[in-house]
Amino acid sequence: MLKIDLRGKRAFIAGVGDDQGYGWAIAKALAECGAEILIGTWTPIMKIFSGSLAAGKFDESRQLSDGSLMNFAKIYPLDATYDTPADVPLEVKEHKRYKDVSGYTISEVAKAVENDFGKIDILVHSLANAPEVHKPLLETSRNGYLASLSSSSYSLISLLAHFGSIMNSGGAALSLTFIASERVIPGYGGGMSSAKAALESDTRVLAWEAGRKWGLRVNTISAGPLRSRAARAIGFIDLMIAYAEVNAPLTKELTASEVGNAAAYLLSPLASAVTGTCLYVDNGLHAMGLAVDSPCMQPAAMTG
Ligand SMILES: NC(=O)c1ccc[n+]([C@@H]2O[C@H](COP(=O)([O-])OP(=O)(O)OC[C@H]3O[C@@H](n4cnc5c(N)ncnc54)[C@H](O)[C@@H]3O)[C@@H](O)[C@H]2O)c1
Repeated sequence: MLKIDLRGKRAFIAGVGDDQGYGWAIAKALAECGAEILIGTWTPIMKIFSGSLAAGKFDESRQLSDGSLMNFAKIYPLDATYDTPADVPLEVKEHKRYKDVSGYTISEVAKAVENDFGKIDILVHSLANAPEVHKPLLETSRNGYLASLSSSSYSLISLLAHFGSIMNSGGAALSLTFIASERVIPGYGGGMSSAKAALESDTRVLAWEAGRKWGLRVNTISAGPLRSRAARAIGFIDLMIAYAEVNAPLTKELTASEVGNAAAYLLSPLASAVTGTCLYVDNGLHAMGLAVDSPCMQPAAMTG
């Protein structure tokens, strides 16, 4: 039987802050395959996430198929906007959610993981942020645009640059992207569409560079809409989900675990020749060129 066996492998997943998003689903799929899971949680929500986890709030979501609970070997505070302590502005250092925490920049987290565990095999980037996401591109400020690229795209480059040397050859990195990189999704603003386009382009270049340098693979998943905390903050996720269900080739609601399973494959030796690619996990919505539920298409001989 062909199985995804990740026993003996160690994964670091950046961007887990609750049990609703893709990062959690990927952690769970990797845990199902036997991998050891380390996570990076955004510094300002670290306390509330760790507290909720310890209080058993996520126990139901932690259930694995063998009845055990998914375990995180360690949770690191992480702010992927910063590479070194010198990059952190004073007002952030002194912010009430940061001032009692240290070691959350990318270089420090990579060092801490190395000190605590040695090498890892899997690196997952499941995070994005754009302060002006509600603004159309034409109204996005330079700072807002650059902040979006910094948090959502450069963070992948920096994570790989800092973790690459502590990853075992044959290991793999994965990020999450969205169709707004290549098709217009009005409302996905503030430079987030640009950030996803950069992330996809960087996936190809990083696959080349990290492949040659460390023998690593780098891929991205273009995921369909999911009602995560980040997506709810953008504001129209329910409409996106409804749209996808009506217009995609497959009319079921996409679950986070379907993305988790695809991630487990891409991060496993089963995908040992797959790198530099974008895998669509969106019920096929990306393949469509028409919204079949558009009033212009009625009566529709084309609804299949
Ligand atoms: N939800 C969707 O519809 C959808 C669709 C396609 C792609 N994605 C992508 O999936 C990834 C995960 O997002 P999600 O929708 O599952 O939401 P999520 O809220 O579960 O994950 C986003 C995480 O990023 C963290 N984060 C934000 N800024 C950070 C920073 N500077 N440093 C470290 N962590 C930071 C947040 O705390 C949060 O935990 C993102 O890249 C997102 O763009 C989401």
